[in-house]
Amino acid sequence: MADANINYNTAVNYWESTTSDVNGVLGGYGEQTTLPQVEQQGSLKFIKKLKSRMLMNKDEEIMYGRRVMDFGAGIGRVTKNVLYKINEGNPHQQTMRFDLLEPASNFVDQMRIDLQPVNEQGLLGDIYHMGMQDWPHNVQDGSMNNKKYWLIWCQWCLGQVPDNELIYLLERCKKLLVKNGTIVVKENTINSFGLDEQDEFDPQDSSVTRTDNKFRWIFEKAGFNLIACERQKGLPEELFPVRMYALKPRED
Ligand SMILES: C[S@@+](CC[C@H](N)C(=O)[O-])C[C@H]1O[C@@H](n2cnc3c(N)ncnc32)[C@H](O)[C@@H]1O
Repeated sequence: MADANINYNTAVNYWESTTSDVNGVLGGYGEQTTLPQVEQQGSLKFIKKLKSRMLMNKDEEIMYGRRVMDFGAGIGRVTKNVLYKINEGNPHQQTMRFDLLEPASNFVDQMRIDLQPVNEQGLLGDIYHMGMQDWPHNVQDGSMNNKKYWLIWCQWCLGQVPDNELIYLLERCKKLLVKNGTIVVKENTINSFGLDEQDEFDPQDSSVTRTDNKFRWIFEKAGFNLIACERQKGLPEELFPVRMYALKPRED
């Protein structure tokens, strides 16, 4: 299986050897290309369509706020350009808190700089300098106490963990969502036309690209319903198809 080749240290070493900017986190598709703008707009449109299905119970909003997690956050690009904008200019924004998780030290240093405006508004939550595989059970600073998420965003990072770890991670996330909480997964995928397509391992950043079918199987296994799925439009043809999946916990 492709995911048996994943090595966490090789991955972090690779990411720590890249530049701490959009070009570095997006493998050469930085701000000199249209990709960041196009994909950020695509995410905002996807969320806009979901908004009526993301209403939050008032009591929970008072208790937990609209807390968002950005997994494998890199330099905080997605938080800054997408997640922060979801409620920009409306009263819900004040209840939002943005947590980020990222194992590469150079990126964590950079996100603290790039997210300074978010921090100045008191909206920056906790930064977890660790891999997803260690969260939240290896968080020892008490910051996970009485915390629930309105939205957990996973973009271009889930290929860094093997299938069984990903299922286990999603199961943990499920317990950390508010009642009507949502997980969005935005990842490179391989089209599933039949049953023959296989996940592909990339030795450079020690990650796997999964087939669309594999993702759907993992979501099902982890106890989620897929409520929306869209393919990101307007990306360069040489890239893998990028899909956005919105997930809600299944009531078993
Ligand atoms: C392609 S970049 C995407 C960054 C960000 N999501 C974005 O779209 O701008 C992949 C990110 O996953 C991070 N990563 C690598 N291994 C990880 C792990 N085990 N857990 C969480 N993130 C990881 C990398 O350090 C890097 O920041």
